[in-house]
Amino acid sequence: MITNKEPFRLDGLTALVTGGAQGIGAAVCRRLTWSGACVIIADLDEARARALSAELPGSSVIRLDISDEAAVNAAFAAIPKLDILINNAGIGLVASVEETTTEDFHRIFRVNVDGTFYVTRAAIPLLLASAGNIVFTGSCAAVKGFRRRFAYSASKGAIHAMTKQLAIEYAGRIRVNAISPGTTDTPFVDGYIAKYHSHEVEKIRAEINARQPVGRLGTPEEMAALILYLASREAGYVTGSIVFIDGGTMA
Ligand SMILES: NC(=O)c1ccc[n+]([C@@H]2O[C@H](COP(=O)([O-])OP(=O)(O)OC[C@H]3O[C@@H](n4cnc5c(N)ncnc54)[C@H](O)[C@@H]3O)[C@@H](O)[C@H]2O)c1
Repeated sequence: MITNKEPFRLDGLTALVTGGAQGIGAAVCRRLTWSGACVIIADLDEARARALSAELPGSSVIRLDISDEAAVNAAFAAIPKLDILINNAGIGLVASVEETTTEDFHRIFRVNVDGTFYVTRAAIPLLLASAGNIVFTGSCAAVKGFRRRFAYSASKGAIHAMTKQLAIEYAGRIRVNAISPGTTDTPFVDGYIAKYHSHEVEKIRAEINARQPVGRLGTPEEMAALILYLASREAGYVTGSIVFIDGGTMA
């Protein structure tokens, strides 16, 4: 029975957020901390992770490249307890299949798929011990075609498949869910505009907003609120769900 009068409390729980230093991951670190969790910010960008951690009571930082199998195993071997794993780190690529080099394809998969696999495998014993849960960050691109997102879409398809498979494998022991965001206003999108449209930033931003059915991008805070729900005890009956949060994109 849930006795907290205030919903979605995570007091006494430990959560690890990959890619927690900026964007959606940083908003998740803030949201989970405000709800009482001790957050481990795991990110390549140690300086940014430390700056965030300074704001968040009870938080700590692991400098981690999720695509480095040995580093992932070593990092998790040093974690005594884990209740919530937020598998959020990911990278993008704007390219059609013809434009995608073999090197780029493997780079996207090394981080988004292999890295997520390494982190998940290393976390499972801790999550079994705590009857914990996992929330992945998927993408609408996993299930709907978007131009020039070949490798990225394929990698996010793997994330959606992992969510379903793990939910069945560990049903009753570890809950496993995913959020599937539409375009979200983070440095991920800023980076895309700066790289491909540096001479027309405002025009492209307006076009991206106009492309969304609701006329604007999602915010990292909106993504974090849904992740908080899925990670909370209130979502105890939710597993194997991939929840779209996309301003109507999938409609
Ligand atoms: N922003 C969007 O429009 C959008 C939409 C759908 C899904 N997503 C997904 O949401 C997740 C977060 O996206 P975001 O927009 O916040 O991205 P972002 O680029 O703003 O932040 C990603 C964070 O992940 C870290 N990171 C990257 N590679 C890493 C690695 N190998 N090991 C550890 N950390 C690493 C980066 O340092 C950064 O702090 C990604 O999985 C992305 O695919 C984003």
